[in-house]
Amino acid sequence: MKNFLLVGNGAREHAVADAICKNNGVRLFAFMGAKNPGIVALCDKSNGEYLIGDICNGKEVAKWAISKGVSLAFPSPDAVLEAGVVDALERAGIKCAAPVREAARIEWDKAYARELMRDFGVEGCPRFGIFEKEEEAASFIRSLKGKVVVKPVGLTGGKGVRVAGVHLKDEEAAILYAKEVLQKKIGGKAQVVLEEKLEGEEFTLQAFSDGKTLSFMPLVQDHKLAYVGEKGPNTGGMGSYSQEDGLLPFVTDAQCEKAKGIMRKVIAAFEKKTSLRYRGVLYGQFMLTKKGPMVIEFNARFGDPEAMNVLSLLKSDLYSIFEKMSSGTLGENDALFEKKASVCKYLVPEGYPIKSITDQPLKIDEGKIRKSGARICYASVYEKEGIIYTQSSRSIGVMGFGKTIFEAEKIAEGACAAVEGKIWHREDIGTREFIQKKVEKMKGLLIW
Ligand code: AMP
Ligand code: GLY
Repeated sequence: MKNFLLVGNGAREHAVADAICKNNGVRLFAFMGAKNPGIVALCDKSNGEYLIGDICNGKEVAKWAISKGVSLAFPSPDAVLEAGVVDALERAGIKCAAPVREAARIEWDKAYARELMRDFGVEGCPRFGIFEKEEEAASFIRSLKGKVVVKPVGLTGGKGVRVAGVHLKDEEAAILYAKEVLQKKIGGKAQVVLEEKLEGEEFTLQAFSDGKTLSFMPLVQDHKLAYVGEKGPNTGGMGSYSQEDGLLPFVTDAQCEKAKGIMRKVIAAFEKKTSLRYRGVLYGQFMLTKKGPMVIEFNARFGDPEAMNVLSLLKSDLYSIFEKMSSGTLGENDALFEKKASVCKYLVPEGYPIKSITDQPLKIDEGKIRKSGARICYASVYEKEGIIYTQSSRSIGVMGFGKTIFEAEKIAEGACAAVEGKIWHREDIGTREFIQKKVEKMKGLLIW
């Protein structure tokens, strides 16, 4: 038996645990910040164990991993990677399939990521500037005529970025927010990244990387805004979908290849700059624009919810992929996926994301969900005496699969209806009408 360590406890990590446990030779050991009932069940089933503790404390994680005879680890969330948990595990002699702190910098330092692209001539980089002085920031915003995105440099749990026309009503609002980021050191540092606002449709491209070779996953589109019709405040992501051929209804094969090329160049640039190899999952968030795919950001991990779409469709053994990533022997075609579409919808507490109503019991008809071919991953919930209760963040990721996105969407909706309680979700994600609008929007931008 192989003892595998997973660090993290969200729905994304539940999806990783599910995929890992398809290999009967693996025992799952999970180090979690809070008890995820789905991961706990998989630890039990695989004869593994779990521990609740501070997931960012590398020393504690490594101590427990050694005591359990762990041979391979996957620390998953962004904060854990920034805290250097991978570095601590490696110092303890445990192999990892995730990036060391310096490599994860591509996510936790937005200024670093942009400079890497600029200095090594990686295409797809919008016009940007990095500022420490309020006046210089203000004059850059004016030079972009207010068409700007204001980004704190560090991690803000997806809530620090503000976009003109979406969260910032005009040039003055953008200047005020840039000043606030500098004064309050939002994101951990008195520095702000300002970027040209890109217009188009966003998509996610994820890849497994051993530092030399990338093995790509199907494209996914996430939906960050809270309410139906792309309205309301930002969230961690309300749901996502993928298409049976690995592309998206508004992304061509050539555009996808271009995005892949950008990601290959980024890991090559990282090696040139640091002499280190980027090992781990590389997440590229792109905006498909009139000029082709442009980079919004890179993450050093799976997306949440995007991990649920792709890992549910993974045909290859995830443990072997992780092993090859850690040993630098990954092949381009090592990750194979079912040719099916997927739709994931997040059930979230009433009041989310402004003021969630917490501690509400959920009645889950598991039989109905299983019978329809749908699946669920637990996120921010807890279990008490056999009943699942909500917490303040996203509760459950519900996934449907099918020959087309629309078939998968109906299955996901049916499964959402099989969960009762004080929760809601976005009904529009993956529907024909909504996707048609995206396609029309891209046609309007004259890229076809
Ligand atoms: P991030 O935290 O960098 O993923 O940014 C959050 C959201 O802000 C993204 O999902 C985009 O919708 C938006 N965004 C970030 N950068 C840009 C940009 N340069 N142009 C347009 N939208 C952007
Ligand atoms: N779904 C966006 C993210 O994981 O960053």
